[in-house]
This record gives sequence, structure tokens and C-alpha cells, in this order.
Amino acid sequence: MGMLGLVIRVNCLFLLLFLVCSTPPEDHIKCSSSNNTNCTITNSYGIFPDRTVCKATSVSYPSTEEELVKVVAYATTNKKSMKVATRYSHSIPKLVCPRGEDGLIISTNNLNRVVKVDVEGMTMTVESGVTLRQVISEAAKVGLALPYAPYWWGLTVGGLLGTGAHGSTLWAKGSSVHDYVVGLRIVSPGGPEDGYVKVRSLSQGDKDLNAAKVSLGVLGVISQVTLNLQPMFKRSITYLSKNDSDLGDQVLKFGKQHEFADILWYPSQHKAVYRVDDRISSNTSGNGFYDFLPFRATPSLALAVIRTAEENQESKSDADGKCSGAKLVTSGLLSNAYGLTNNGIIFTGYPVIGYQNRIQASGTCLDSLQDSRITACAWDPRIKGEFFHQTTFSISLSVAKSFIQDVQKLVEIEPKSLCGVEIYNGILMRYVTASTAYLGKQVDAIDFDITYYRSKDPMTPRLHEGILEEIEQLALFKYGALPHWGKNRNIAFDGVMKKYKNGKEFLRAKEVYDPMGLFSSEWSDQVLGIKGEVNLVKEGCALEGLCICSQDIHCAPRKGYFCRPGKVFRDARICTPIHN
Ligand SMILES: Cc1cc2nc3c(=O)[nH]c(=O)nc-3n(C[C@H](O)[C@H](O)[C@H](O)COP(=O)(O)OP(=O)(O)OC[C@H]3O[C@@H](n4cnc5c(N)ncnc54)[C@H](O)[C@@H]3O)c2cc1C
Ligand SMILES: *[C@@H]1O[C@H](CO)[C@@H](O)[C@H](O)[C@H]1NC(C)=O
Ligand SMILES: *[C@@H]1O[C@H](CO)[C@@H](O)[C@H](O)[C@H]1NC(C)=O
Ligand SMILES: *[C@@H]1O[C@H](CO)[C@@H](O)[C@H](O)[C@H]1NC(C)=O
Ligand SMILES: *[C@@H]1O[C@H](CO)[C@@H](O)[C@H](O)[C@H]1NC(C)=O
Repeated sequence: MGMLGLVIRVNCLFLLLFLVCSTPPEDHIKCSSSNNTNCTITNSYGIFPDRTVCKATSVSYPSTEEELVKVVAYATTNKKSMKVATRYSHSIPKLVCPRGEDGLIISTNNLNRVVKVDVEGMTMTVESGVTLRQVISEAAKVGLALPYAPYWWGLTVGGLLGTGAHGSTLWAKGSSVHDYVVGLRIVSPGGPEDGYVKVRSLSQGDKDLNAAKVSLGVLGVISQVTLNLQPMFKRSITYLSKNDSDLGDQVLKFGKQHEFADILWYPSQHKAVYRVDDRISSNTSGNGFYDFLPFRATPSLALAVIRTAEENQESKSDADGKCSGAKLVTSGLLSNAYGLTNNGIIFTGYPVIGYQNRIQASGTCLDSLQDSRITACAWDPRIKGEFFHQTTFSISLSVAKSFIQDVQKLVEIEPKSLCGVEIYNGILMRYVTASTAYLGKQVDAIDFDITYYRSKDPMTPRLHEGILEEIEQLALFKYGALPHWGKNRNIAFDGVMKKYKNGKEFLRAKEVYDPMGLFSSEWSDQVLGIKGEVNLVKEGCALEGLCICSQDIHCAPRKGYFCRPGKVFRDARICTPIHN
């Protein structure tokens, strides 16, 4: 997430003042009557990739498994489409939408309790609406830790499993939370003989667990999840900034060397910041804390100033402005250790040593003690703030070096082209490993997380549009990358099931769990290759990643952007400015 130096400064100056004034995110489910009917639903950004809004006739908020069972039975009896929504709905694609406009939304907001902690067995069973933040803090209370997790604590257990969310490691069973699931209860439609609802309890060894632990929500509602934890431990973190000339060679080595390694890559600045991050003995002193700066509450005024600057740079094609802005952001973040402190208050130097639960994830912008419009999460749709696309994919470690070198060739051709990405803190590279989940990672890989400007006007091309499109296509087609299920623009999912060797097994499980497809939607049918296409071919479609251009009209010919082959990857078709 990007922030200019200004924010960092303002944030630090007014930290004490503003942290208590943060606004909670807006409810992404809105109903027109008090009985939760006639509703619309979006995600936490307030917008889907195709900019439509989804509708549903009603929302229900079960607070126990028994209530959940009744809801699913009722909807199944009435052949109603259903979809699970979570507290914030952080996924970008249209995963949360029921089919049509008269479906039912089942919110896990009130399924938010810890069910059982087995300290000796080192497992914890939680209801699926429990947030990552709760998992971390509840486990810590009994001296346990979730070893690898996403960096943002606003996700729910059901949602992060649904999309295969992960942190970063090549060690142990890898960084995906679903690979630490040892049990799960799921409520699905049933036939008349079952009372129209079926509750299954899956445990390690059940083949179906491989389908249910990354399910895009199409198998039914996960009610409870049992996670395998570890004894609490400490970590030691040092950020090391280097040039990126040997990044391709470093990637594999670095991931093997450090348990929690990740890399922030700033390609236009020719820099890579290596996170040297390892488990250390718990008697090492240090009480470090990670409150990642871009996930802190930010003054709305500063967000508006930054967005306006970005819009001006875009409209004036001011690449130099973007590059100097990027330097401000990235040097500001680095010099503030990205929000790490040695003791919860100040940063005095590396290494920062602290307990896992205080370091592994953050998200203080979600906190609020007061209803105010003064600060917010940077992407809060109610204010003028960040508005971006996110292209996130994993590339097999065996070809990661070639991919990195191809991106470096693009930067040689267009040196300033990725400054816009650096404004959003560059490309985050994280390690992920092959999973037994049918829709999980197929091989050990490195996940690239790229965030960049999105115009409020879908017909307006962005600066260096084509370079970003070429990187997206390089990854997806030349290197067979797998998209993150909870991020990305539509084209990342085109024909995606071909990339999963057990894709058919997943579809078979879906037939068994939900033969009528009540938990499926137009979107899930398109993604899973069951019906229709994710591509939406129309004027300007390539600008929003709704299609890959094949004609100029898919770009913005009147604004000087035409459909042409890629510069490094000739098979790519990108929208690029032609000057004459
Ligand atoms: C600021 C930020 C930081 C992020 N950081 C990371 C990161 O570090 N690593 C990473 O991998 N991802 C990250 N993400 C992306 C994130 O992992 C996904 O968007 C996430 O999985 C969404 O979780 P959610 O609880 O909001 O679920 P939602 O987006 O609401 O739901 C996702 C899917 O799961 C289904 N689902 C949810 N609960 C259930 C249930 N109980 N039963 C059945 N189906 C269910 C939903 O129907 C939907 O299909 C980040 C996102 C944001 C906004
Ligand atoms: C909800 O309220 C609307 C009017 O506001 C009404 O038409 C509808 O019947 C109500 N639904 C239920 C389930 O009570
Ligand atoms: C449903 O909501 C829409 C827009 O919010 C409104 O125009 C419509 O009248 C509502 N319908 C009912 C039955 O309440
Ligand atoms: C990058 O750093 C290495 C040493 O780590 C050095 O040998 C090399 O010359 C540097 N490259 C550039 C372009 O500065
Ligand atoms: C930490 O504990 C280990 C044994 O558990 C011991 O060998 C080591 O010396 C201790 N280190 C410190 C800094 O106290």
C-alpha cells in the first residue's frame, strides 16, 4: 500500500492524536430495510474489477452452527443461491456475490468465537468468522503461535482459507495457512433425506480436506476450523537494502537461508530490500512490535493530498514526479523500519527482536474508538484515498530468475515505468510452497504482489499502462503463474483451472457437496471453467484488465493508446502510447 513521505511524517507527528480517532471501515453490506432485506454487497474497497455492484434479497447473521444449519437448510429447500460474506470482505474479485440478484448472504460476523484450545496437542479450533488478529492473540494467551500467516490481521479464517492466503516461507509446510489446517466442519446443501442440509467434519487424512481447505466458498459454509500451532517463539528481523543487479540469483538462496524471508523490490530504483528474518531463542531479549506503516490509520486529508498528486502526475504524464514521489515513500518507509519498533514505541536499530504474535501481522487502521472521519485505512472507499489494481501471482522458483530478468529488461527499455508501483511500496516478493490443497500452489514458488494506480474513470489509460500489462502477461502466460484467488484483475483467471493438476478432483468434490450449485455464482462458474468466461470484451476493456487487447478499441485510441505486441514478450498484447 502506498503512502508518500508526507503521510509518514504526518502519521508520526500526530500518531498519538490520531490513532484514537480512526474510523472503522464501512459496512460493505447495505440493506434498504431494517430486517436485512433488499441488499447490496461489495468488498472492502467498495468496488469490484468490473465496477458493478452485487445484489441479494437478504442477509443472515447466524451466531451458532445450529443457526447456520437452519439457514442453509431453509435456502436449500427454496433453491436459493447463497454466498458467505465476512466481516470486511477483503477479496478484490467478485467472490462474495451470490448468483443473480435474489440470493442470500450468510455473514460470518457472529461466528467469531474460539471453540477450543488444546495446549498440549497444540491445536486451536475457531469459528470461521474469527479474524487473524483474534487467532494470534488468543493463541498467544496460552503460549502458542501460528507460525506463518498473511501480514494483515483483518482477514477471517474462513476467508483466508477460501482464497489460499499466505505469509512467506519455504520452510516446514510453507506459508499458506491452509497447510496448517488439521480439521474443519462444513455445512452444505443436502437432499430431502438429510433435511436439506449436511454437516461434514473433515480431519487430516480425509481426501475432501484437500478440496475444502481452499474452496473459493463453493462447497458450503465452513463453520469451524482446527489449526495446528506451535509453541510461542521469537524472531529477529533486519531489513537490508541492496542493489537489484543480482536479485535473480539471490531469490532462491535467500528463501532457503531465512525462515521468514521476503523481499521488497523497487525495480526503477534498482533496489531490493531483503527481510532477514529468523526464529531465535526465546531468551534473547527484545520486545519488538510490528505496526506496518501503510496499515496504520492515516489522516484522510493527507490521503486526499496524495491521491490528488497522483492524479495530476497521471494527467500530465509526469513520470519524473512519480519517481521522486516513489523515492520519498520508499526511503521514508525504510528509515522508519516500515513500522517496526524495538519496544512498541521507538525504533532504535536492527535487529528487531520480538515475539511472533507482536510481529507477524498488523492492521491498526481497523481500530476505532470513536466514529470520526479524521483517519482511515488508506483504501477506504468513503474518502478520497488510494484506488488501485492489484496483480498478484506466484511463479515457480525454477523460473523466477528468468521472470525477474525479463522485468529488468523492461525497466531498461522504460526506466521510469515502475516508479508508479514503487509509490505503493514496490513489488512484494514472498515464498509459498506446493500444497496438498487442490486449488493451492502446485510447486514451490515466489509470489509477486504488485499494486498500481487505477483511474476513477475506467476509460482513462494509466501512465506506463503497457509495461504493467506486459508484466502481467509475462507472468501468467510465459511463466505459467498462478493468480492469488483473492486479488487480481479478471484476466488473471482466464482458463486458470488448466494450471491445477487436481482441478478435476476439486470439481468432483463440488458436485458431491453442492450438486445444485447453490454456493456457486456467475463469477465462480467462469473462474472454474464451468460456464462463461471471465473476459469481458468491450471498448476500453484492456485498461481495467477485463480483457487482453486484440484491437485498438480495447485500449484508448483517442487518448493515444493502441494495442501492440509486448516489448520483451512479443506474444503479449499491450496498450501502449504511439506518438506521431
Ligand atoms: C490490506 C490487505 C492485506 C492483505 N495481505 C495479504 C497477505 O499478506 N497474504 C495474502 O495471501 N493475502 C493478503 N490479502 C488478501 C486476502 O488474503 C484475501 O483477500 C483474503 O483471503 C480475504 O479474506 P476475508 O476474510 O476478507 O474473506 P472474503 O474476501 O470475504 O472471502 C473470500 C472468499 O472466501 C469465502 N468464505 C469466507 N468465509 C467462508 C466460510 N466460513 N465458509 C466458506 N467460504 C467462506 C467467501 O465466500 C469468498 O468466496 C490482503 C488483503 C488486504 C486488503
Ligand atoms: C422486510 O421488510 C420489507 C419492507 O421494509 C417487507 O416488504 C418484507 O416482507 C420484510 N421481510 C421479512 C422477511 O420480514
Ligand atoms: C430496494 O432498494 C432500492 C435501492 O436501494 C430501492 O430503490 C427499492 O425501492 C428497494 N425495494 C424495496 C422493496 O424495498
Ligand atoms: C551492486 O552491488 C554489488 C555488490 O553487492 C556490486 O558488485 C555491483 O557493482 C553493484 N551494481 C551496481 C549497478 O551498482
Ligand atoms: C538461552 O537458553 C539456552 C538454553 O535454553 C542457553 O544455552 C543460552 O545460553 C541462553 N542464552 C541467553 C542469552 O541467556
